[in-house]
Amino acid sequence: MAERITAPSYNQDLDREEAGLRPKYLKDFLGQVKLKENISVFIQAARKRGESLDHVFFSGPPGLGKTTLAGIIAHELGVEFRSTSAPALEKQGDLAAILTTVGEKNVFFIDEIHRLKPVIEEMLYTAMEDFEIDVVMGQGPGARTIKIPIPHFTLAGATTKAGLVSAPLYSRFGITARLDFYTRKDIQQILYRSSRILAVELAPEAAPLLARCARGTPRVANRLLRRMRDFAQVWGNGIVDLEIVQKGLSALEIDKKGLDKLDREILNTIIKRYQGGPVGSDTLAISIGESVDTLEDVYEPYLIQSGFLQRTSRGRMVTRLAYEHLGLSPNQNENQRDLF
Ligand SMILES: Nc1ncnc2c1ncn2[C@@H]1O[C@H](COP(=O)(O)OP(=O)(O)OP(=O)(O)O)[C@@H](O)[C@H]1O
Ligand SMILES: [Mg+2]
Repeated sequence: MAERITAPSYNQDLDREEAGLRPKYLKDFLGQVKLKENISVFIQAARKRGESLDHVFFSGPPGLGKTTLAGIIAHELGVEFRSTSAPALEKQGDLAAILTTVGEKNVFFIDEIHRLKPVIEEMLYTAMEDFEIDVVMGQGPGARTIKIPIPHFTLAGATTKAGLVSAPLYSRFGITARLDFYTRKDIQQILYRSSRILAVELAPEAAPLLARCARGTPRVANRLLRRMRDFAQVWGNGIVDLEIVQKGLSALEIDKKGLDKLDREILNTIIKRYQGGPVGSDTLAISIGESVDTLEDVYEPYLIQSGFLQRTSRGRMVTRLAYEHLGLSPNQNENQRDLF
């Protein structure tokens, strides 16, 4: 799992160079056109009024650019960007320390915002709404609560699990931005941009194939590009051309639809053990030796998005496309059941 190159979640080993590839301004943030247009308008309006930008909520699968966009907003507003992640905020004091020192109109980013502790979340409510926080002074019977004003800041929250964010918190964000998987064309543009930054030549006939295997996810695209750069340096002349990409993908066991070994194992398991489904996610997770969370967050989104898997009320089912891709036919199940 740690080395799974196509898993979209951040991986310290695989994504070391990520910071250098991260766009700083909206013009370099490729794709997501509609979202970008809107954000651009909101930023310009806030600047014109000389006010802080409304609080922004980012949601969407890992690696699509939530953190990147939050940083871009700060850059475009010309303010400072301060960032933390919900699990790092343990006590109210941790949050109070940040909120009382954050600069006027600055962007304060909280990642994994669905994981806030209730006491922290409560403190955020008044901070977001009234730009003040309640702080308890003293202890025991003599303790009293005082209100402390805080600067007008912009909270940027991000999550891969928007459904787990409470309604009161969610409702306090004025701007909500849902990031979706990128089109292949957009991924290609991202690959070209990254190849320029990494100073590696990406051949025009190789880019579409690489883009097809990136799961609509910029993080995966960048990771694949860096691996192809390695293959090109060792096996070729440093240019990432079609032959290098074909060889490289096959070395990484990624097929032409961008599925890797584990994706194929999931589909194969559903077909061979559960006659194509439906099978509950708990059962499926056990069968492939992963947690339900990992299955749902890391593996399933791409399989569903690319039409190989369906989530139904009775469980997961593979589609006809999955049978075709694996070279199996639905009625082979009867014979295959004997194998298990
Ligand atoms: N629209 C884009 N254009 C160019 N590069 C992008 C774009 N979106 C993301 N990237 C690249 O993908 C990488 C991952 O993006 P980012 O860290 O913002 O994802 P995320 O949505 O915050 O993921 P996670 O949910 O894991 O926190 C960035 O370092 C950046 O290089
Ligand atoms: Mg992030």
